[in-house]
Amino acid sequence: MAPPLVLALGGSLLRPEEAERHAWLSSLAKLLSSCEVPVGIVVGGGAPAREAIELAKPVIDDVASLDEIGIAATRLNAAIVAQVLQNAGLDVCAGIPSDVVSAARGMEAHRVVVMGGTRPGHTTDNVAIRLAIESGAARCLIATNVSHVYTSDPKTDSSAHSIELMTLAELQEIVGPPVHGKAGGSGVIDPVGVQAAIDNQLPLAVLDGREIDIIANALAGKAFTGTRIEVG
Ligand code: UTP
Repeated sequence: MAPPLVLALGGSLLRPEEAERHAWLSSLAKLLSSCEVPVGIVVGGGAPAREAIELAKPVIDDVASLDEIGIAATRLNAAIVAQVLQNAGLDVCAGIPSDVVSAARGMEAHRVVVMGGTRPGHTTDNVAIRLAIESGAARCLIATNVSHVYTSDPKTDSSAHSIELMTLAELQEIVGPPVHGKAGGSGVIDPVGVQAAIDNQLPLAVLDGREIDIIANALAGKAFTGTRIEVG
């Protein structure tokens, strides 16, 4: 049997203010129903996480407490995705697992497991990478609202360019050492997760999750538009 698949969905992909969100969720359900191996999905916090953390920040000053608020938002978003998939008739593991060991166990019994964050100190990128390691996936796919990893932040550096293929070591040069500095809002991939991928020799991919066809190609192991990050 082919190994399972693990897909991180950045919380920004669920933004209610974006047009076509309902069509996107329906297309995701259709795509996942055609997958022949179990899929673990890890959903990020997006706007609800950012808003809740900003609301609490003036009165809460420790990062771990703010992280817990972010985690609650990721689990809210995970519940939305899980219910949509379940209502579309997919075999979704009941409940939102709160750790990757339980989630990997769920992937042995169900076609789809949906989870959010687990504990303070990292983001859902790291959760997805840990779930890929735990479940024996060959690669962790990180679907977000940018098309690729860039050499630097294109919003602030006009010389930034996109990367199609790189190593985990090159990615670490861009994201920096494995430090969780603040709750909410990180760079393209959580540096804590990049370190976990290096330690466990797990290839990654970053792709534009707004385009269901790109997710479909990546899940099917076909060529896709995005950045492939190999072990080295
Ligand atoms: P996200 O995974 O959405 O992270 O978790 P992010 O980098 O802020 O957002 P994206 O990647 O752009 O979508 C939101 C916040 O929740 C906390 C962190 O503070 C994180 O920034 N969190 C999340 C945890 O502490 N642990 C987790 O397992 C997940």
